[in-house]
Amino acid sequence: MSQSFFSRHQGSLFCEQLPLTQLAQRFATPCYVYSQAAIRSAMQAYQQGLGQHPGLICYAVKANSNLAVLNTLAKQGAGFDIVSVGELERVLAAGGLAERVIFSGVAKTTTDMQRALSAGIHCFNVESEAELNQLSQVAAQMGLQAPIALRVNPNVDPQTHPYISTGLKENKFGIDIDLAMQLYRQAAADPHLLVKGVACHIGSQLLNVQPLLDATDLMLALVDQLAQEGIQLHHLDMGGGLGIAYRAEEQAPNPADYVPMLLARLQGRELALHLEPGRSIVADAGVLLTQVVYLKETGQHHFAIVDAAMNDLLRPSLYDAYQEIENLEASQQPERSYDVVGPICETGDFLGKQRKLALAAGDYLAVRQAGAYGFVMASNYNTRALCAEVMVSGDQAYLIKPRQELTQLFADETLVP
Ligand code: LLP
Repeated sequence: MSQSFFSRHQGSLFCEQLPLTQLAQRFATPCYVYSQAAIRSAMQAYQQGLGQHPGLICYAVKANSNLAVLNTLAKQGAGFDIVSVGELERVLAAGGLAERVIFSGVAKTTTDMQRALSAGIHCFNVESEAELNQLSQVAAQMGLQAPIALRVNPNVDPQTHPYISTGLKENKFGIDIDLAMQLYRQAAADPHLLVKGVACHIGSQLLNVQPLLDATDLMLALVDQLAQEGIQLHHLDMGGGLGIAYRAEEQAPNPADYVPMLLARLQGRELALHLEPGRSIVADAGVLLTQVVYLKETGQHHFAIVDAAMNDLLRPSLYDAYQEIENLEASQQPERSYDVVGPICETGDFLGKQRKLALAAGDYLAVRQAGAYGFVMASNYNTRALCAEVMVSGDQAYLIKPRQELTQLFADETLVP
């Protein structure tokens, strides 16, 4: 889909119209680079899929929350799925509209609820009975009515990595589908709550849409059952979860096909469709640029030691995730099988293992599909500065977040007298 926004010209890897080597030299490494056109195109695929059907594509801010990314999407009419007040403030700062924000998350505090209610968000996705009661109280104190959907756990196996599976009975997320009816009755009778919809998110990086379709059917059965009791829902929120192709041989579902499949199931009901895609909007749109510091051989192993580490991109270390790694330029060096590792003092600090690469020290590499869950999961581990982020638009590159200064990392720490 958005792969074409990164392409090779005479051996050099480009982002839109700019050679990435030039960007690596200009902004230094490590550095994330995003294609604005790729982000727009992915959002468009969802919007096209939705067509004239009422609904909202709420980008999951957690996937990449840089203001320039959020602003790009806000200008396209996106809504936003947030999981913290921090994300709400980002959305508002980036020009997003509060009335298009939905608030997910299992641990919303009283202060979170107050802020979101005063901002006037579209809907709270409520994840437990305790949360529902607390939200009602907070709304009552503020003299408001809180718009809600219950996030229901349909107990469907998303067939993905266990750390990012969320729709199984044993997961901490959502309300057991068998308890949902009773809680909806309670919410409908509560003057401080306004029942708007039902929500569900079963997991992330799904390459097969069948579990999502199965979950939709279960949600629709609940919607119909509620309607029979006179509780009319206005929207169905099927969460995020569409996967992307991290490996060339993988086939990712296309949102422009997936959304119509959902709409077909909704037929005959007056129900808006909400979605919360994160990864499928931004993953393909980003790369992490890094430079080879040293090549090192130990026994059987060839190591490419690079200047990016698990603090910059955690996915390989945390989930054993695979992301393609490429030399930005064609190389005359012999091809070898390299473990691409970072400077951090842990064996778990790697970006890729046994990768066929032709390399010399000083070469620049791109870790592909790094636009989602990349920078947002970065840390200062080993007192390493958060790296820079750059947005490319056509033949222009914009520094959308500078690399941290090292002194910033401890500027607010104090000594004990
Ligand atoms: N909605 C909710 C309630 C979620 O929990 C998530 C992701 C999304 C939407 C967006 O899902 P997506 O469309 O991106 O699959 N750090 C992990 C992914 C964690 C996903 C958490 N929830 C990774 O790097 O693979």
